Amino acid sequence: QEDVFKKLVAHCKEYGFVFQSSEIYDGLAAVYDYGQYGVELKNNIKKYWWDSMVLLNDNVVGLDSAIFMHPTVWKASGHVDAFNDPLIDNKDSKKRYRADVLIEDLMAKFDAKMDKEVEKAAKRFGDSFDEAMFRETNPRVQENLKKKEEIHSRFVKALHDNDLAELKKIIEDYDVVCPISGTKNWTDVRQFNLMFSTEMGSTADGALKVFLRPETAQGIFVNFLNVQKTGRMKIPFGIAQIGKAFRNEIVARQFIFRMREFEQMEMQFFVAPGEELKWFEKWKDIRMKWHQSLGMGEHKYRFHDHDKLAHYANAATDIEYEMPFGFKEVEGIHSRTDFDLSQHQEYSGRKITYYDPEKGESYVPYVVETSIGVDRMFLSMLAGAYCEEEVEGKDGKKESRVVLKLPPVIAPVKLAVLPLVKKDGLPEMAKGIVNDLKFHFNCQYDEKDSIGKRYRRQDAIGTPFCITIDHQSLEDKTVTIRHRDTMKQERVSISELKGIISEKVSM
Ligand code: GAP
Repeated sequence: QEDVFKKLVAHCKEYGFVFQSSEIYDGLAAVYDYGQYGVELKNNIKKYWWDSMVLLNDNVVGLDSAIFMHPTVWKASGHVDAFNDPLIDNKDSKKRYRADVLIEDLMAKFDAKMDKEVEKAAKRFGDSFDEAMFRETNPRVQENLKKKEEIHSRFVKALHDNDLAELKKIIEDYDVVCPISGTKNWTDVRQFNLMFSTEMGSTADGALKVFLRPETAQGIFVNFLNVQKTGRMKIPFGIAQIGKAFRNEIVARQFIFRMREFEQMEMQFFVAPGEELKWFEKWKDIRMKWHQSLGMGEHKYRFHDHDKLAHYANAATDIEYEMPFGFKEVEGIHSRTDFDLSQHQEYSGRKITYYDPEKGESYVPYVVETSIGVDRMFLSMLAGAYCEEEVEGKDGKKESRVVLKLPPVIAPVKLAVLPLVKKDGLPEMAKGIVNDLKFHFNCQYDEKDSIGKRYRRQDAIGTPFCITIDHQSLEDKTVTIRHRDTMKQERVSISELKGIISEKVSM
């Protein structure tokens, strides 16, 4: 699976999907650029989300708020004081770790060690793995299990209590079991704020320290009244926006899974107090169906409900997708109570309430949020779509092809138009078709190399349809259309093309 991931990363670069930022200067960690096909795929994902949230829901409207916001916004939201990661350095190796990630990694190592022990025991006694795991007579396994549970509960408690000294102690205790450094030379654990800051205005004016937003949601909260009043919105209603967010992530790894500059698609749904859990369940259902509508396989998605809730939430779940490195969060759905609006009311001194004509009373609305990372969605789509296949090539010989089986609605190029030869008027006819269809969807003209090579190139970028123009086309105005996944070809009339392709590539 790790192998698949490496191939995927290489594929992204080779075919112009994702490049390391500032690559000619050796790159900038956890920052990426989207290439010619990447930007199309990303735009299509955003459009698919936007259309389903804003266009198809009468009671959801859009917003595009600025990245810079008044610094007090982040004080009110809790990000200045609490948007932290616990950090620890190893004094010998000079390596820096996120304490919580380090402990999780150590626990995973510990699990692997224990699995080996259990497998050994199972072999010795001829048991199944599960039997060996729970057999009373295997004290070594039982002891390991007990120890792991002990450390796990210490870890959960330390995180909950924000007990940094205890986090350090766990790492030291653990390091004995599964040494990562061979020494115990750790610094204290300290909190590191994840927001990037910069200065606004000249220093003569007294520059203002401002932050790059770590989530788009706060732009929605502070505009609640603007949108509600000018749009004459009635609760329940939602505000959706797509935009960049920035976090100074300490552990930058897994390609575009964890980035320092990324994009979010968020929707805040405002409801009457007491209605939020009903809406939370509704949005859970709607969002899961949205993911599954893309046809990547229902078994690839699951919910991960949170046991431990942030102080402002009364319910939270993640939608996880099975990436090559395991099930990972792609979207978060949170019932955020009236925390954010109440905080902004307090810090701004402005009344942020809604008069509910049906209830005949005013209240601070409750919020259910759906928040998805564009880049993670992008990665999940590529991971699900990437296939290596053996196919029949020229003269019946087996050859391999890499194909991105992307849902047609988000594929970067919908149609490639390929003249069989570069003469006899075939290129002109092919270009004519592109010129007609390019107003409806992204088309590409390609006349270079053999037809087989051209098909492979389109497979590699996930183009769902290729059409070939041959001599017969000149006579009867028909072309062959080739379907990416089945590689089946059929002859259709040029006048039918728009209909056939539109049906498959629209929502
Ligand atoms: N407003 C709520 C919020 O921001 P979050 O769980 O911190 O919640 C929501 O983030 C989504 O944003 C995540 O599910 C993930 O898809 C994406 N995301 C968060 N941090 C990210 C990062 N460093 N790189 C890429 N995507 C990220």
